[in-house]
Amino acid sequence: MSHIDRSGNVIRVIGDLNDFHFLLAQIHQCIENAGFNDLVLDMSECTSAFQNSMLSVCAQVLAYREAGIDISLIPPRNTRLSNLFRNTNWGYFLDPHKFDISHFRGHTRIPATRYANPDEQQNAVNKIVNVILGALPDLQRSNLASFEWAVNEITDNVLVHSQSSIGGLVQVSTFQKNSKSVQFVVADAGVGIPETLRTGRPEIRSDTEALDQAIREGVTRDSNIGQGNGLFGTYRVCTKSNGHFQVDSGHARLEANPKQGLSIRNQNIPYAGTLVVATIDFSDPSLLEDALRFGGRAYRPTDYVETMYEGNEGEQIQFKLIDECHAFGSRVAGKPLRQKLLNIINICEHNGIGIDFDGAPVVSSSFADEVFGKLFLQLGPIQFMQRVKLINMTDTVEGLVNKAIAQRMQHGTADLD
Ligand SMILES: Nc1ncnc2c1ncn2[C@@H]1O[C@H](COP(=O)(O)OP(=O)(O)OP(=O)(O)O)[C@@H](O)[C@H]1O
Ligand SMILES: [Mg+2]
Repeated sequence: MSHIDRSGNVIRVIGDLNDFHFLLAQIHQCIENAGFNDLVLDMSECTSAFQNSMLSVCAQVLAYREAGIDISLIPPRNTRLSNLFRNTNWGYFLDPHKFDISHFRGHTRIPATRYANPDEQQNAVNKIVNVILGALPDLQRSNLASFEWAVNEITDNVLVHSQSSIGGLVQVSTFQKNSKSVQFVVADAGVGIPETLRTGRPEIRSDTEALDQAIREGVTRDSNIGQGNGLFGTYRVCTKSNGHFQVDSGHARLEANPKQGLSIRNQNIPYAGTLVVATIDFSDPSLLEDALRFGGRAYRPTDYVETMYEGNEGEQIQFKLIDECHAFGSRVAGKPLRQKLLNIINICEHNGIGIDFDGAPVVSSSFADEVFGKLFLQLGPIQFMQRVKLINMTDTVEGLVNKAIAQRMQHGTADLD
């Protein structure tokens, strides 16, 4: 539990920050009621925080800063948490004087990214999908396509509907402890779903009713602009996969989870914008096969692998190592690369793949083993030889990769996570 208090223009967060409503209410009061133009967010005693709360706080702080309010952060004293603030970009968004923008290249987390136009949105989504390809094992096409479709729709809504002065923030985390799932969070500081939806549907009386309507098929503020698929489809992908779905906007929160089903509650403290938290569980890929259905018909969106890699059937996929990987020295760098290769090889079942070493530096033995030794073992010799071509290798690299594969064949399947 957290304790949040305010003394003058200093707002303190003590303990675990679970829900963001009270913190945002304190910030609101400090600025709007007490009239402060500068504000200190003291999180030195904060012990834990999660992306769903933090992204909404970041969006609101960015909007206040854009409106001329000076906000500074006292970062958490807890080293693990302050590193998280740095790596996720929360620190940068809350206080750009104290934190630089994060260049963190984690394999399970992607820093929060701000986007304000369609190009930035596309870049953010591509970066996210790219990391997911390397982060999760055994991805099926329906997993990847549904996830990518949903991230696209929810991030797009911010640009199309929200009128958010700061654009949107998007962040993604993967979880693999109990289930294989991915959570993405999108936050904006715009006018909120109830307000936009009411423009086309004036009969909507409450914010709870607005959220209830917004996730239904075909409900849009303006059928000249949208089809009302985005929230409906994302809700379906999350719930069909036994994941979670949550929307906060205005005075309402909509939540769906496998235990309690769908609930929509009134919130005394409003959220000035929209926050969508979508968790998709990939543990049973068959659940997602027909998750996307519109007008009674199954819908198959194009996906990143199709756009970036897959040519026509039977064509060889071009996979340039130097574009895919930034470090060639360690197992830590090698593992996501192998995961990605395996996912692409599985998803594009009718294509071979040409892994091109042109321009890549000499790899280390551990990298060669992590990527090629283990890939050889996982695919098996026949599949490896039929599907994978290694192109433009120097003699040195060829020697290293040969040795890695030979040793893996001797040592069997140990440590193939
Ligand atoms: N971030 C947001 N800010 C404000 N309003 C939103 C936001 N996201 C959705 N809405 C409202 O919810 C409605 C439904 O959204 P949804 O994504 O389901 O459909 P759409 O965007 O209208 O159409 P489509 O997604 O098919 O292009 C929108 O028309 C809009 O009124
Ligand atoms: Mg939409």
